[in-house]
Amino acid sequence: MTDAKGAATFRAATDMYGRFVGRYAPGLAAGLIEAAGVEPGWRVLDVGCGPGGLATALAGVVGEENVSAVDPSPPFVSVCRARLPLADVRIATAEELPFPDGSFDGALAQLVVNFMTDAHRGVGEMRRVVKPAGTVAGCTWDYAEGMTMLCAYWDAAHEVVPDEVQEFDERSNMRFSTEDELTGLWRDVGLDDVQGGALDVTVAYEDFDDLWAPFPTGIGPAGTFCASLQPEQQRALRAAYERRLGSPEGGFELSARAWYAVGRAT
Ligand SMILES: C[S@@+](CC[C@H](N)C(=O)[O-])C[C@H]1O[C@@H](n2cnc3c(N)ncnc32)[C@H](O)[C@@H]1O
Repeated sequence: MTDAKGAATFRAATDMYGRFVGRYAPGLAAGLIEAAGVEPGWRVLDVGCGPGGLATALAGVVGEENVSAVDPSPPFVSVCRARLPLADVRIATAEELPFPDGSFDGALAQLVVNFMTDAHRGVGEMRRVVKPAGTVAGCTWDYAEGMTMLCAYWDAAHEVVPDEVQEFDERSNMRFSTEDELTGLWRDVGLDDVQGGALDVTVAYEDFDDLWAPFPTGIGPAGTFCASLQPEQQRALRAAYERRLGSPEGGFELSARAWYAVGRAT
């Protein structure tokens, strides 16, 4: 099995994922499922399921027994299996999906394509495992502008540690994070009737600590960068981040935009 480079950043602090990006997953999943036109009775595959935010939302539409899910991270697969005991949840990468051709009515990947080692192969595999006229759908953050939590964080990082941040900054180094790039990938692997668009979600935080807590644990690329800093740099980054979000007192909300692509296999 290919060990995806991106997967490694999600092996640490699995319990923190829910407080990091996981809290965006249900709202995003609802939008992606609607964009993909998932219907009751479909057999569906969640590629890069993480702890199962999309898989759980899919189960609500098609029934748990009609859901399969894969992820290369064993701790995430364990959490997803526990949430959906009737689903078929396996350790695997998108690039080597362990299913025969034409197994599903739809294959969906939420916030995963940009972490694939070989996205053309991964989305090509999604196309292979859906039936003729089956649906392949995916979404990625609008890293450059629309994902407030990460944009404000990287702005703060540039302010505090400008010499060290460039190679980590997801706004410039994440692929497939524009609508054109994502829909282009869908067309490149031979999908038809490709459509793209925006998915907008808003999430609530109890206070700034609720937002900050996952970062020092090393979760995701932003957390990996945070965990690499010296304690005084971390403190300065935290303070700059808080300022950039308006120094919220108590609860607040952040908006986030993702781009999606949906296409049909032939
Ligand atoms: C940002 S998380 C998204 C998880 C979940 N889809 C969600 O919406 O909460 C990215 C996920 O992609 C997985 N991943 C990384 N590389 C992958 C690959 N090559 N194939 C499949 N999944 C991969 C990671 O293990 C992680 O669970």
